[in-house]
Amino acid sequence: MPKPPIIELRNISYAYPHNSMPILQNLNFSVSDKHVGVIGSNGCGKTTFFQIIVGLLTPDTGQLLFHGENVANKKQLRELRKEVGFLFQSADDQLFSPTVIEDVAFGPLNLGYSSAAAEKIALETLMDLGLSGFEERITHKLSGGEKKLVALATILAMKPKMLLLDEPTNNLDPRTRKRLIDILQGLDLYQIIISHDWDFLDQTSSILYQVEHGHIHKCEEDHIHVHRHIHKAGDHPHRHIH
Ligand SMILES: Nc1ncnc2c1ncn2[C@@H]1O[C@H](COP(=O)(O)OP(=O)(O)OP(=O)(O)O)[C@@H](O)[C@H]1O
Ligand SMILES: [Mg+2]
Repeated sequence: MPKPPIIELRNISYAYPHNSMPILQNLNFSVSDKHVGVIGSNGCGKTTFFQIIVGLLTPDTGQLLFHGENVANKKQLRELRKEVGFLFQSADDQLFSPTVIEDVAFGPLNLGYSSAAAEKIALETLMDLGLSGFEERITHKLSGGEKKLVALATILAMKPKMLLLDEPTNNLDPRTRKRLIDILQGLDLYQIIISHDWDFLDQTSSILYQVEHGHIHKCEEDHIHVHRHIHKAGDHPHRHIH
């Protein structure tokens, strides 16, 4: 028997309270590939989809399966959250400790590591992300791009098996964006990335899905289009498909 997917959604429907129209409607999805890209217009339900996966929202109908088992209680949800890390759309929602090291060590501490072990993991994670020297920086004074990378460090410190990244390149300059691409390409983890940045997805995903009309479906074709642009900085590499 083939192994069940790490995450599967079956017939998920969800409407926000006081909102009669469901945002997601009979949505079906299972993680088939290691590097999945997700696109879709503003407000179509992409972030909602991630929130359902990690149990921050409970669907009105349908099932969330983790390694093939229905997630039906808090204990199962805790197990899921140990393996599935969620990088929020806004890093400010993710960071809450005064210093960077405290924020990155928080996850491992919460998982039961001693403070010495948690600090060691935090230091290693910061080093892996090229953030050595940031340990004592005041979290809320970091720049937007620095916050994004530190937020990623807080998640990686928990050694997840899967990453959900919600528009990770927002407000990143070309150099930091390239760094993030290199980091993600170097991680042997399941990754689902929501982005409006097609070139970023081209470099980080092997399969593309689109959220539309409450559903999610595979994008089977390249959409050929014409575009004109200038490259002022000149270091923002991307491909054109003709
Ligand atoms: N807490 C909430 N209460 C009511 N409506 C909400 C709530 N959160 C989101 N919505 C609405 O649900 C819809 C889907 O929101 P969601 O954040 O999932 O979209 P998205 O695809 O991530 O959009 P974007 O690309 O702008 O991030 C939007 O119309 C949004 O206004
Ligand atoms: Mg969103």
